[in-house]
Amino acid sequence: MTDIHADRILILDFGSQFTQLIARRVREAGVYCEIYACDAEPALITAFKPSGVILSGGPESVTDATQYPIPQPVFDLNVPVLGICYGMQALAAYFGADVASADHSEFGYATVRARGHSALLKDIQDHVTDEGYGMLDVWMSHGDRVESLPEGFKLIASTDNAPIAGFADEQRHIYALQFHIEVTHTKQGAAIVNRFVHDICGCANDWQAQSIAADGVARAREQVGSANVLLGLSGGVDSSVVAAMLHQAIGEQLTCVFVDTGLLRYGEGDQVMATFSESLGVKVIRVNAEDEFLAALKGIDDPEQKRKIIGGLFIEIFEREARKIDNVQYLAQGTIYPDVIESAGSATGKAHVIKSHHNVGGLPADMKLKLVEPLRELFKDEVRLVGRELGLPAEMVDRHPFPGPGLGVRILGEVRKDFADTLRRADHIFIQELRQHDLYNKVSQAFAVFLPVKSVGVTGDGRRYAHVICLRCVETTDFMTAGWSRLPDDFLDIVSRRIINELDNVSRVVYDISGKPPATIEWE
Ligand code: XMP
Repeated sequence: MTDIHADRILILDFGSQFTQLIARRVREAGVYCEIYACDAEPALITAFKPSGVILSGGPESVTDATQYPIPQPVFDLNVPVLGICYGMQALAAYFGADVASADHSEFGYATVRARGHSALLKDIQDHVTDEGYGMLDVWMSHGDRVESLPEGFKLIASTDNAPIAGFADEQRHIYALQFHIEVTHTKQGAAIVNRFVHDICGCANDWQAQSIAADGVARAREQVGSANVLLGLSGGVDSSVVAAMLHQAIGEQLTCVFVDTGLLRYGEGDQVMATFSESLGVKVIRVNAEDEFLAALKGIDDPEQKRKIIGGLFIEIFEREARKIDNVQYLAQGTIYPDVIESAGSATGKAHVIKSHHNVGGLPADMKLKLVEPLRELFKDEVRLVGRELGLPAEMVDRHPFPGPGLGVRILGEVRKDFADTLRRADHIFIQELRQHDLYNKVSQAFAVFLPVKSVGVTGDGRRYAHVICLRCVETTDFMTAGWSRLPDDFLDIVSRRIINELDNVSRVVYDISGKPPATIEWE
């Protein structure tokens, strides 16, 4: 089997909001990479044995005393280096050039002239000027600027605003670019990443869904041996892919517990059982706990209290079921790479992280379960690709995120069964229409929210005094910030009419036009 980790890029994080995007672009180029903090132990950097290093951008100024320098092992490794934005300025400073906190800060689109036919940018361009110069449309976001070329380096890119927008030492394979190749606004970004990782660093194209899936299966099998594994299956993408992967790896040794809280989406419980138990033959124990959850939530309207009750009860039920299964040694979790990076600060190897909002993180110590986390290295988009590779249906792996507390945080105030049933149906209509109109995969997350206020409506000959459904739909890359989706009016009209016509306890449908910030994506 191909060693998909053999060729690898190290990304040193200087604090840019785009660092994870750099890693995703490298992975999309078919090369494994990891992100380390810029102050990672030098020995860890050396031990990683990268085929190349990328230095991220960052909020610091290299002109500040508090700046983070580039760790020396980056140069001692004798592998190609690419600095982006702050990474470029840090390279300039390291090699003795002038960097000024410029009055020329630039945020937004810019046109860059590629110069000097560098190995990094040669023949990559968006358009050519009348004089025959290759030009790139890029995204700039920087305060400082490099004022002089470091000795031994040549100019490879410039803009009117930043005469030195890129430099290179082609003998030592050290490259620097002021603009952000990791964001999609830079149209040739992927081509430049490809050029760096393949042509300059010499990495093969081995990081592909099929091989990642095979590698995950093989490694899980090796880790677990003949032991039994327990997995909390939620119906979400991550735990579903873990289930499919472990099923392939260890078959009967895997037992999944699926707690149906009664706060799931329309038909979700049956769908989970149909996919895993019936179609894939995975051993799944379904616990119908709707009554227990509704009883625990009765009379509770504070959002945080609701979250605590749902989380606590979930663990209690999961534990209760887990204890009934004999001889379990491992607990499987759907931790993914962004969880690892975010919780540990960076993958410095110092911390072992359990997905903090994951519902089964709180299993009692006396069960002494070891963890198996087969998605620990993967980004969400890779998890989806691997899921498809493992035979999961597209509707399952491409599903929008769903919060752990489920509809519990989408029914404002007290959670009641009739509210949950109404919400489920309204949400289903919304999602169905989004799919029908080919919009579902174009937005990041869409759902309905139940507002327990009453409003007057008129339907047919009668007056209707009933509840309000709010539609929420957002676009985002990281769910930390989000904009509301500009869904077509005609589309919203269809959804609104269907909801009011089909649900007689809804009198009004509204659309949420709040961004995050200041609002959050969920309502509670
Ligand atoms: P907010 O509402 O904080 O949501 O803007 C950001 C993203 O996180 C999801 N979310 C959760 N996911 N457990 C989860 O697993 C939770 O408790 C939880 N709360 C919010 C939300 O759906 C959105 O995608």
